[in-house]
Amino acid sequence: MQMVKKVGRMLCMCVMMSLPAMAQNIASDGEEAFVEQLLSRMTLEEKIGQLTLYTSDYDVSGPFLRAGYLDDIKAGRVGAIFNAFTAAFTRKLQTMAVEQTRLKVPLLFGYDVIHGFRTIFPIPLGEAASWDLAAIEKSARIAATEASAAGLHWTFAPMVDIARDPRWGRIAEGAGEDTYLGSLIARARVQGFQGQAIGRDDTLLACAKHFAAYGAAEAGRDYNSVDISERTLREVYLPPFQAAVDAGAATIMTSFNEISGIPSTGNRHLLTDILRNEWKFQGFVVTDYTSINEMINHGFAANEAEAGELAINSGVDMDMQGAIFQNELAKLVAQQRVSVAAIDAAVRRILRLKYKLGLFANPFAYSDETREKTRIMAPEHLQAAFEMAKKAIVLLKNDGNLLPLAKNGGTIALIGPLADNRHEPLGSWCGAGDWQHVMTIRQGLAARLSPGCKLLYAKGCNINDTARDGFAEAVQLAQQADVIVAAMGEEAIMSGEAASRANLNLPGVQEELLRELKASGKPVVLILMNGRPLTIPWAAEHIPAIVECWFLGTQSGHAIAEVLLGDYNPSGRLPVSFPRTIGQIPVYYNHKNTGRPLDVNNKYTSKYLDVANSPLYPFGFGLSYTRFSYANLTLNQAAMTPADKLVVSVEVKNCGERAGTETVQLYLRDEFASVTRPVKELKKFCQITLQPGESQNVAFALALNDLSFYDRNMQWTAEPGTFVVMVGANASDLLSARFELRKR
Ligand code: NOJ
Repeated sequence: MQMVKKVGRMLCMCVMMSLPAMAQNIASDGEEAFVEQLLSRMTLEEKIGQLTLYTSDYDVSGPFLRAGYLDDIKAGRVGAIFNAFTAAFTRKLQTMAVEQTRLKVPLLFGYDVIHGFRTIFPIPLGEAASWDLAAIEKSARIAATEASAAGLHWTFAPMVDIARDPRWGRIAEGAGEDTYLGSLIARARVQGFQGQAIGRDDTLLACAKHFAAYGAAEAGRDYNSVDISERTLREVYLPPFQAAVDAGAATIMTSFNEISGIPSTGNRHLLTDILRNEWKFQGFVVTDYTSINEMINHGFAANEAEAGELAINSGVDMDMQGAIFQNELAKLVAQQRVSVAAIDAAVRRILRLKYKLGLFANPFAYSDETREKTRIMAPEHLQAAFEMAKKAIVLLKNDGNLLPLAKNGGTIALIGPLADNRHEPLGSWCGAGDWQHVMTIRQGLAARLSPGCKLLYAKGCNINDTARDGFAEAVQLAQQADVIVAAMGEEAIMSGEAASRANLNLPGVQEELLRELKASGKPVVLILMNGRPLTIPWAAEHIPAIVECWFLGTQSGHAIAEVLLGDYNPSGRLPVSFPRTIGQIPVYYNHKNTGRPLDVNNKYTSKYLDVANSPLYPFGFGLSYTRFSYANLTLNQAAMTPADKLVVSVEVKNCGERAGTETVQLYLRDEFASVTRPVKELKKFCQITLQPGESQNVAFALALNDLSFYDRNMQWTAEPGTFVVMVGANASDLLSARFELRKR
């Protein structure tokens, strides 16, 4: 193999994308005049209607449906509807609003378009595993293109909650455990949904959710309380929201949880001090589903009136499904507990976005049957979903290069409840996705194997029950095969909202079946489909090849087959650590050092008696069908000043026999500071594709901002002193060098 060496050095620019003009945040004169004029004609009841969001009965995503929502529309008591889609149905509801209400203010239609509308892409955690920001942006762009043709104006996405606890089912909906990666993905998704400009007929308003720290729910139990410091809030949980706001996110959704005693929906510090005053957010804030009402259960509001008062006076603009604004705001105004000015401010924010969407000019602009027919599941959308699904796959283990499989001969026994399953690969929050469009692994393999290859299939067991009557057939097939491919994991509904798990093993009797397959003596490849990290210590030790496939959406089977057969060299990297056991949770790479850092030879150090501190698979980890080596980590100078840029370079070589894509990761540690710092933090990354034998010098430029943190006075600053810079393939496999930051 001839070694190719690139002469020039590549400075990684991949994470320095330019932001789109924040046109949506700048009101034009025409818009202001229009909104003010309309506002001046509105009664208090009509204004309150604009602050009210109800679900339709087309789809329902929460505990109850309000009977009579159609009457609310006709009476102007509602300004926005969610869970209603298709051009025809939204047109019907919009007609009621613009023909039967006094001021003819059009409705805003929202929906949870999370990872695709009808063409379903991988779950967001899976997309994050691609570390490919352009592909993630494109996925959101396509979701918006399809949804906006079906009458929708607004998606309740992206979910930008950092999640360090895989018991929390909603980890599936976000970008994983890392704040830096999560912030870049938040920006990519907002840009994807909102496109070039709000108001184009292929864009949706984005909604960054759930503000804030919802992912820090105690014990990983959904909706549970959060108790974190202002420092952790600002360092870990808020940056992705700020990134979304900076990218122009039109709306923000409050979270269900409380933070240190204050529910987010009544948290003025969050919704006004930080969001509006510090970050200059111009859009509107919507609550989560009945989260104003839930402040009574939190013990924060004595009754609905008080809950409504707290919400609007904290900075909430729109009440999702709770009917509290509808029932209480007028009385609160009469009692002078809420000012008309506060209501006007909220109405203005909502009317401005309706104006920007062009709804006053044409309320039906998004309800277009022709576009709906041509755009939804367009061939290029399916192709993009296929590409994204391949990029999301993470190869966790491949002993003896068992993968890729030979496609020209031999017998494959494909076994397991997810091998030919068309429902689960859609994952949670699959929008208008249709299981009938899903390609299974069985279909994907059958389409690619040569006639000389035999594909046997048995389901073996269900995902989550105790029936073992399929084992015998599965084992008997396994015995006839050269290799076994076992597809196992979770049901789609085991992650997402209200789907926390206290055990993260393979559910049901799947591992028992896996053990029997292994006992057949045939080599086994384990395909995992799941919405979160699972604990798989037995499989990790005994099964030679393991492929993490998350829930990959419509094109699952094609993507998995291409990886299994080597048509695609896997390049995904974990956006979250995989624990060895639930007792380690939370286990995340950017932890603090403690005063007694781990020393296996010293009992009195921070560790467990019965399990290692390290995760089973670390953050950033993923194998390839080729191998990459790292060498010659160099810095252009041993010390930098605040005005400098420090250039860190490393030589990455493809030492294997196939072309492959590597994600080069740079981490930083501030060794001593006035406030303790994590042992490492991801600060840059870059994806490169290298031919066999090719090497490339990858360079990253570090600036003062990369070295900065919130000091003791919560000022964003970089302190002089020594730093360790680490570069490598994942959070545990790194070369390192030290440099100094000098005052000048
Ligand atoms: C509740 C969920 O928490 C939120 O993410 C979603 O957008 C709303 N329901 C609407 O379906």
